[in-house]
Amino acid sequence: MSENADDLEQTLMLAAAAADSRQYEEEQRPGSVSPEPQLTSNASTDISYYNSTKDPEEVTNKANENTTDYESSPVSKPSRTKKKLEDVKDEKPVRKHIKTDYDDSCSPHNNKLAETASDSSHAQVVATHYNLIEEKGLDERSKSRIVHMRNFHNWIKSMLINEYLTKIKDSKKQHNPPIRVHDMCCGKGGDLQKWKIGNITHLICSDIAEVSLEHCKQRYADMKRRSQNDRRGNIFSMEIVPGDAGKIRLREKYKDPSIKLDLVSCQFAFHYSFESLSQAECMMKNASECLLPGGFFIGTMPDSNEIIARAKKSSITGSFGNAVLEVSLEFDVNKPPLFGGKYNFQLDGVVNCPEFLVHFPVFVKLAKKFGLKLVKKEKFMDFFERVKNEGRQLLTNMRALESYPPNEGCTLVGDASGDYLHAEEFVQKEARDSGKIGTLSKSEWEVSSLYLTFVFEKVKSTWNADGTPCYDI
Ligand SMILES: C[S@@+](CC[C@H](N)C(=O)[O-])C[C@H]1O[C@@H](n2cnc3c(N)ncnc32)[C@H](O)[C@@H]1O
Repeated sequence: MSENADDLEQTLMLAAAAADSRQYEEEQRPGSVSPEPQLTSNASTDISYYNSTKDPEEVTNKANENTTDYESSPVSKPSRTKKKLEDVKDEKPVRKHIKTDYDDSCSPHNNKLAETASDSSHAQVVATHYNLIEEKGLDERSKSRIVHMRNFHNWIKSMLINEYLTKIKDSKKQHNPPIRVHDMCCGKGGDLQKWKIGNITHLICSDIAEVSLEHCKQRYADMKRRSQNDRRGNIFSMEIVPGDAGKIRLREKYKDPSIKLDLVSCQFAFHYSFESLSQAECMMKNASECLLPGGFFIGTMPDSNEIIARAKKSSITGSFGNAVLEVSLEFDVNKPPLFGGKYNFQLDGVVNCPEFLVHFPVFVKLAKKFGLKLVKKEKFMDFFERVKNEGRQLLTNMRALESYPPNEGCTLVGDASGDYLHAEEFVQKEARDSGKIGTLSKSEWEVSSLYLTFVFEKVKSTWNADGTPCYDI
């Protein structure tokens, strides 16, 4: 493909991303771009308050759930080169056009090369950041200003994982079918308990941060020991795969590189690869290539439209935030790039590593190239609205919402004067018997509403004469 065609393709994708963003802003009007916290309204009259005087460990065990480990993102230096867009196109991969780091390292036989090559991307900064995050005990975590938001995000993951594991099991028409899963960018294994509850057979856990993987291994060992002691029987087998999913072909490191997976889950992580087309493409290939047709690729990530809309609305150029959040963009908000749209994210005073904007139309196009068809994209609030009744008990067990007014002897995590006006209004208007509701503080809600869930399904491929796969998407 010629440079002009590349330029045209890039222009078209930029136009698609800009149109998506404009449409999003239109849909937000006339209300505020930054959504008001609405978890209380029509959500949680009786649902979701919890008794925060209970021992958290007890509550957590009851729910069979760990609190999530994810520390949202984090730091860095820009390194953007002009990227070719033919790989985001519908057409079949033509190797001579894919002269990217993906082609050099995410291809077979080059894992070594990729791992030893000097790395100009931010991936190592990201890895170091996550490696340095201390493991906090439940007690410590429950004191955090954003504890409910973290629990809420964990609840979202639980519900999403459960929804698609159920679909997979139902489609197999077999009693206790084997289910094989890849938890891509698994961190310290915050989702291990979910895989156990989901009764899966085998789990591949991959991540760039080796210290996090050590924690994951330890957690798995503890979990296995506990389940043996409890005579709860065997749990799934697990293998650990360290590596940069944006640089190497993970499959080559699997115990069985021909494994067929039912589900790939990438929670709060795919956006790190949007530093460059080659990284995003390599990560997508890793997500897709071992999936069975009919298998799912699910995940959570920040919503670029929401980030851009809030930055545009902010009185401070290129940044927005609140008491617990600070996001600062390192690009012109009126001309966001397709890849390398870097922003820094600080949550609850912790400086995180750099994150990159994911324009959803670009994400979808990239997925399509690797045989993944979009099933669903939902903002966290919409997801919540859809599954809240089903997940009502788990919301309580996981302490995913804060009780308002607070229980006796408890104080609100947020600023009582400004962070709960929505809750107070709702209690006045609608709360029934107990007068208590479950909610998130406004500041926490403003973080949660930055995220979305996504689901793709792997489609069957046919093959071209030259051996390249074609997908009917
Ligand atoms: C926010 S944490 C999420 C961890 C876990 N998925 C969860 O939900 O608890 C992001 C994770 O992505 C991992 N990560 C970021 N970039 C990566 C890359 N290029 N390859 C592999 N892992 C990566 C980080 O090391 C970190 O563990």
